[in-house]
Amino acid sequence: MTNILAPSILAADIMRLGEQIEAVRKAGAKYLHIDVMDGVFVPSLSYGVCVVESIRKSCDMVLDVHLMIVDPHRYVETFARAGADILTVHLEACEDVRATLELIRSCGCRAGLSIKPGTPVEAVEPYLDQMDLLLIMSVEPGFGGQVYFPESTRRIAQARAMIERKGRDVDLEVDGGITMANVREVLSAGANVIVSGSTVFRDPQKGAAALMEILREPSPLF
Ligand code: DX5
Ligand code: ZN
Repeated sequence: MTNILAPSILAADIMRLGEQIEAVRKAGAKYLHIDVMDGVFVPSLSYGVCVVESIRKSCDMVLDVHLMIVDPHRYVETFARAGADILTVHLEACEDVRATLELIRSCGCRAGLSIKPGTPVEAVEPYLDQMDLLLIMSVEPGFGGQVYFPESTRRIAQARAMIERKGRDVDLEVDGGITMANVREVLSAGANVIVSGSTVFRDPQKGAAALMEILREPSPLF
């Protein structure tokens, strides 16, 4: 399995966004992680559809849109039309998880399901057949630059074991507090998509290149 870097533009310098996206792309990042926050599901507000639309016009990376919004079903079609490739919704925010994952796929996007640190990993098991990506939050969603919750490592391993047991081809993405010091631990627990905001965008080219070097190391698992 190839490991993928998904830089989160929440930590980018908005005035230099185009240039910084190009730097992470050149360093080998394949996904671009876009955090959409509504001020209700999470305390902060970020950006919405027009940012995805505008990035899509000049960027051919996989747009990995993380919806931290209540009742995300309402916006699936709009984000799909704006050019999202992966649409990830929160289990805790959906009224009907199954219907929302189905809608995402029917719009031509890959369907992602995410859980906050307090939600048991087994809660996603009934939906494994309907998702292409499972996103384990390793901090409380809402802000960049937080510290990785150490218990996330066990949750990642549990999620990977569950995916293997079901024989499903599901990406396991981890988001929040990933640094040069803990990324190997996250990978060896079974994650294959690494989101990183502050570690990458402190210096986009160098940050992404340094993480990519670790992501390319042969994995003990696969
Ligand atoms: C947090 C967001 C993350 C955030 C990660 O709610 O979902 O994607 O940007 O930032 P770092 O890597 O700085 O923790
Ligand atoms: Zn995110």
